[in-house]
Amino acid sequence: MNDFKNKKFYVTTPIYYPNYKLHIGHAYTTTLADYVSRYKKMQGYETMFLTGSDEHGQKIEDRAKEANEDTLKFVTKIIKDFKKLWLKLDIDYDLFIRTTDETHKEYVKESFTQLLKKDFIYKSKYSGLYCKSDEAYFTETQIKENKCPECGKELIVMEEESYFLKISAFKDWIKDELLNSDILKPKHRVNELVNNFVNDLQDLSVTRTSINWGIQINEDTSHVIYVWLDALQNYISALKYPESKFTIEEVWNKNSEVELLQLVGKEITRFHCIYWPIILKMKGYRKPSVLAHGWLISDDGDKMSKSKGNVVDPLELIKIYGSDEIKFYLVNNIVTGEDGKFSEELLIEMINGLLVNKYSNLVSRTDAMIKKYCKGIVPENKINYLPTKNLTIKLEKIREDYYQKMDNYEFSNSTKLLINYVEEINLYIDLTKPWKNSGEELNATLNTLVKEIFNVTTLLSSVLTTSYKKVYQWLSIKKKPSISLLDKDFKGVKLNKIEHLFERIKK
Ligand code: MSP
Repeated sequence: MNDFKNKKFYVTTPIYYPNYKLHIGHAYTTTLADYVSRYKKMQGYETMFLTGSDEHGQKIEDRAKEANEDTLKFVTKIIKDFKKLWLKLDIDYDLFIRTTDETHKEYVKESFTQLLKKDFIYKSKYSGLYCKSDEAYFTETQIKENKCPECGKELIVMEEESYFLKISAFKDWIKDELLNSDILKPKHRVNELVNNFVNDLQDLSVTRTSINWGIQINEDTSHVIYVWLDALQNYISALKYPESKFTIEEVWNKNSEVELLQLVGKEITRFHCIYWPIILKMKGYRKPSVLAHGWLISDDGDKMSKSKGNVVDPLELIKIYGSDEIKFYLVNNIVTGEDGKFSEELLIEMINGLLVNKYSNLVSRTDAMIKKYCKGIVPENKINYLPTKNLTIKLEKIREDYYQKMDNYEFSNSTKLLINYVEEINLYIDLTKPWKNSGEELNATLNTLVKEIFNVTTLLSSVLTTSYKKVYQWLSIKKKPSISLLDKDFKGVKLNKIEHLFERIKK
């Protein structure tokens, strides 16, 4: 392993709209961010994990009106639920930004003034087909039968005085960047974006006079900043907060060495991979690095969304199945970058088949054997036992592959390798048959089992963020998971009591 001591990693999720409670689809993005952030931390990186809420815009104001409440009070209540969800899901974020925070608002206003001074923003009139729900204009070529291509709702004709961002001047630049650099992963999403949006790129209307609930510009208080220009800049403004671990310059300057990962669902890549890189370029900053994941779809094949009425409440699921179980399903069973099914049936199948049968049973079996054959004390491995040697070679290879997949952000492939790691250890038990073995060979086997359980548990700890603690407690390890702890020898350690890591779920 390399030394990552002086390296920094900045990971962000989209900031979510506080108009409704979050569903499992939102939890998916955040779970991936948490997984990769903990992994980097384990490698020795200094990490910063940003999430938050996107609070302005007509949709939110409408929702508050429906509820007959003051808008800020309304969103503040919903945000309590966001934070509760992240707590119950054991998400270790560093900063929760709200676009209604003063620091953010000030930043966005100043930024607008600067872009205006640099002539990247100009005033004009806009008329176009607009989706109120997605808060976006669409061109004729993007739509069919006057319906929003993203949510399917009816579009309206909007005309208003507006400031515009000179996006079209960057059309060739962004096309080239998308096709030839690493702004967007996975690569197959790039063509989609270029064909649907870049070829027809027009200047973006970035203020509204028809909306009140938003950030007013310093230049003209009748104009409120368009939500996306407001929201996207959270990734910069957060770095001005006192709690921020990194500074704006550190992260966003062109020569920055901070590794960056911005996780988004595929439906918002347009904003993150066209407008956002252009905004950054206008400001003289580096390019973003975005990973677009697919959607969670329900059994009937539809995207899970509030408007379709097929959402699953993650808080309810956590109560029944536990947070690690849900996070593991999301990371492992949804192929990163693709759409994937989510249902309770599939979740139960995964819990019983992988977490209980393979992983939890491995730990229980090993615990029972050491307690039976060695009075609960891990024996020393004194010999060069061939099955152990063969196992070690296989597992080292899996570990290397695991790091590679993680560094490539292939999350579902990474956890599949860890399951494979567990399977190999189980096979090693079948092969060495400790119940028929004795003497130094038995000692070598049991010592190896503990070592490899500890290794795989350490790697799994980035997703099984609660259950790994049971194994650490079993082995009296008080330290935080770290790659530097791997391959520790547990000879002479007295095993503590351990309960089942995962419980079988009855259908
Ligand atoms: N507020 C904007 C983002 C602004 S970022 C500068 C927004 N918010 S949102 O509340 O609608 O959340 C969108 C995110 O939720 C998507 O990027 C995606 O990560 C996630 N998902 C919402 N439904 C989803 C699924 N059914 N499946 C997977 N992810 C989904 O857009």
